[in-house]
Amino acid sequence: MDINTGKIIISGGKPLEGEIPVSGMKNAAVAIVFSTILTEDKCIIENLPDISDVNVSLQILESIGVKVNKLDKNTVEIDSSFVAPGIAPFDLVSKMRASYYLIGAELGRFGRAFVGLPGGCDFGARPIDQHIKGFEALGCDVKAEGDYVEATAKDGSLHGASVYMDMVTVGGTINVMLAAVKAEGVTVIENAAHEPHIVDTANFLNACGADISGAGTDVIKIRGVKKLHGVTYTIIPDMIEAGTFMILAAATGGNLRITNLIPKHLDSVTAKLCEMGVEIEEEGDSLTVRRKEGPLKKINVKTLPYPGFPTDMNPQMCVLLCLAEGLSRLTESVWESRFRYVEELKRMGAKININGRCAEVEGVPYLKGASVRAVDLRAGCAMVIAGLAAEGITEIDEIYHIFRGYENLIGKLQGVGADIKVVYPKSLQYIDYE
Ligand code: EPZ
Repeated sequence: MDINTGKIIISGGKPLEGEIPVSGMKNAAVAIVFSTILTEDKCIIENLPDISDVNVSLQILESIGVKVNKLDKNTVEIDSSFVAPGIAPFDLVSKMRASYYLIGAELGRFGRAFVGLPGGCDFGARPIDQHIKGFEALGCDVKAEGDYVEATAKDGSLHGASVYMDMVTVGGTINVMLAAVKAEGVTVIENAAHEPHIVDTANFLNACGADISGAGTDVIKIRGVKKLHGVTYTIIPDMIEAGTFMILAAATGGNLRITNLIPKHLDSVTAKLCEMGVEIEEEGDSLTVRRKEGPLKKINVKTLPYPGFPTDMNPQMCVLLCLAEGLSRLTESVWESRFRYVEELKRMGAKININGRCAEVEGVPYLKGASVRAVDLRAGCAMVIAGLAAEGITEIDEIYHIFRGYENLIGKLQGVGADIKVVYPKSLQYIDYE
């Protein structure tokens, strides 16, 4: 079945109850998969989420000579002993944002890279000027013309440098780290992003013999080393998937035990949900989230770099604010236009006014099922939450976005009582296939 032609059909209005597991973190997995290019050895990566962004990343590696052997759906052996500088197919590279890590990894391994500009969710301009600033500081000539970026170390090798990021950038921080791990000398990244996936990538590289300190703080120091060796490494749980399930429990009025997560990563989400009157209980590596009696309270939320409220939880939180009592405000401070999904929510009866970077959300007693589309990865999952909370039937189109970042979403939701399925077209009508 071609997921590009499928639709998700939901019969909503039922509280979801039970236990739901979290998979490995997409944004750590894609960074670490590309980081293996630096090791010239075999690595085994565990707890990889079985999602299209990871599978495309593995296909890109194979296109430049890396040997990829899937040991099971969440474990892969990656052998980059024989990789050569190549030109990964543009149609693969343009499918996702994280393909820009190919530039930093190839620079770190070969001192040169020629990579198609990345794709990914459409939030308006998604420049990589800070990545380029870092590569140039390390002694590279960088040309970003048309659809490609070409980077070459001027004298054949990269040299440590100090790089001050003009704004907090996850991708920029990781990409400069990748280029610097084997550079001659010490690199210091200032105003670095703090996200857990940056720490996970640094931990992976250190396990391979790199010398990185300060990941997770404003200042990351990288002492160049000659060689990196292979390792077996387990990806951290996906904090955004976990946060998505937390909001799902609150929005459907249910009671979910969300397992295999790191509660600390969700502190900002937990704080905002408690402010709304949601009950959250932490037990080791799981959280139980249940809706208390009475209406959800209105709140104001502003998305910020970690440890602030994650921008990747913007759409999901907006759905919940639609069901709170009174006027809430959701301000997006990371991306210039992350509210394209609002028009889809309005089709379900939501009352939302966009004022610059702020969504003013007037709570409504309930949302109504409708035909909507997934405009990007996280917005698509927000439509699933909205459909499960709404009265009636919801059909979601363009669902391929959702399967970029959520492993076995339909199965996990059915496991906690959701009436949800994917259907595919057959001779102009949608038949419910196995
Ligand atoms: C990563 O994107 C994530 N993607 C995004 O998650 C996430 O929304 C974002 O970080 C912020 O947390 C991956 O990790 C693959 P940034 P990235 O560089 O690295 C500006 C998801 O749903 N900027 O931190 O592209 C940029 O325009 C995805 O999983 C520059 O101006 O984000 C944005 O306004 C969606 N120049 C801000 O910085 C640059 O060179 C943050 O971007 C780089 C960034």
